[in-house]
Amino acid sequence: MLGCAARRVAATKTMQDRQQDFGDTPPEEFRKQLHELADWIADFREHIGELRVAPNDKPGAIRAKLPAQAPEEGEPFEKILNDINRLIVPAMVHWSHPMFLGYFGWTTTAPGILGEILSAPLNVNAMTWRTCPAATELETVVIDWLRQWLELPDEFGGVIYDTASVGIMHALAVAREEAAPSTRKLGLINRDLPRFRIYTSDEAHSAAEKAAITLGIGEENVRRLPSDDQFRMKISLLRPMIAQDRQEGFQPLAVIATVGTTSSASVDPVPEIAKICREQKIWLHIDGAYGGGFAMLPEYEWVSKGWEMADSIVINPHKTLFVPLDFSVLYVRDLERLRRVFTLVPEVLRGDTIEGEKNYMDYGIQLGRRFRALKAWVIWRSLGREGIVSRLREQIRLANLLAGWIKNDDREVIGPRERFRSRFQLSAPVSMGVVCFRFVGPVPGIGDAGPGSATPATADKLDRLNSEIVERINASGRAYVTQTKLRGRTVMRIGLGNVLTTEEHLRRAWKIIRETAEALARNPK
Ligand SMILES: Cc1ncc(COP(=O)(O)O)c(C=O)c1O
Repeated sequence: MLGCAARRVAATKTMQDRQQDFGDTPPEEFRKQLHELADWIADFREHIGELRVAPNDKPGAIRAKLPAQAPEEGEPFEKILNDINRLIVPAMVHWSHPMFLGYFGWTTTAPGILGEILSAPLNVNAMTWRTCPAATELETVVIDWLRQWLELPDEFGGVIYDTASVGIMHALAVAREEAAPSTRKLGLINRDLPRFRIYTSDEAHSAAEKAAITLGIGEENVRRLPSDDQFRMKISLLRPMIAQDRQEGFQPLAVIATVGTTSSASVDPVPEIAKICREQKIWLHIDGAYGGGFAMLPEYEWVSKGWEMADSIVINPHKTLFVPLDFSVLYVRDLERLRRVFTLVPEVLRGDTIEGEKNYMDYGIQLGRRFRALKAWVIWRSLGREGIVSRLREQIRLANLLAGWIKNDDREVIGPRERFRSRFQLSAPVSMGVVCFRFVGPVPGIGDAGPGSATPATADKLDRLNSEIVERINASGRAYVTQTKLRGRTVMRIGLGNVLTTEEHLRRAWKIIRETAEALARNPK
């Protein structure tokens, strides 16, 4: 609660103070703050590698250091920045850190930061062309640059959303509208609608279920097909599953094929899936959130095979193509199909909405839209196609280097009192910047769980051990890796996407992983 004294102080402010309360920071002061901030950003970027990658605080520790009540009076920027240094920066997982090897790595670059900064003072709302022609037209331009880089046919038009989850939801809304016309108008209740089914692999992202929940399709109507030994959808099962569903009265609505799955970056057999979709008249959505960007590499042409037969494709440049979060593009074959489902002009925008102009509010549920295209324009111009491609190639090189170290790891470890062999195994083929692997022992009391030799109990213990290795590394603040499950077994996972991560960092991370695994193997919990 604000004390009475503070209220009295507020009441006795001079007229001049009050005048300042109504407006903005005086220009000279703002300039000074900006210079200070520029130095802060440059220092942060230069020295990020010296920070802990992640904190080791207990939940609630940061909140306990912050005032529970909002300030009554404004505070100086210097004080706020000081608190950012003191309280916020140490309590962060630093995704841009060179030793951050979680998820898919991360897309921070200096030009990307400049792009983000530039959009702050402009701060427009690009609902319609009229509310900001530059934002609207630049969005169309950068979407088309990306389309050309990916060699997508020009019948695909796109829209920028925040995330792939939102993109897939919009794509499936169009599929639903086309399969059950007038759903937009009449909704789902008290209508004799088909019971839809969506098909995807057991390695696909849960965004499929989220979309089904949102669209009233129901998460249980997302059918997950098993994947093969390389974590790709088992195509031989798709036709029979669709046939069985039809027989049981369901209507197949869409297939989601993944190009770069979340766990292992595997790629579904898109051309074969596309053929079935065409033959069965089912919507084909391609989830290229992570892997789609690799189609920019001439030698990765294989990842985009069959895309020309898709109805919709999602690409997340904030995962692979160096645009800062959030920036995801949904391409739809004939974008008008998307517009028909979502166009709606509120009266207050009537004067700023001319049908013939591109009004991006018509291409999704979101009305207010930030100027996302600007940061993509800045980073993509700064790197150029060549700069993007060479960085992706480096990620692939590093991933393969690590995979080689893992494959060849079968070393004798000599401790103060014991000797044992340390073994890691690659858990999935490496095709992009992701490496999945597992420590398999031997561990005193657990043994060696090499291929085919693990009993379920041994494998369970190794699951826990692999999780503990990840947790211990992350708690150390020296590196950050993630874990996932493949074939029901826990594996460690490294994502190489960060431009600051060099071979030297990777070597260091590999050493930390081995040492942590060996220490835990000697003393399993
Ligand atoms: C293959 C794939 N699809 C979709 C998503 C969801 O992405 P977003 O966070 O942009 O919704 C992810 C996230 O990791 C992903 O890996």
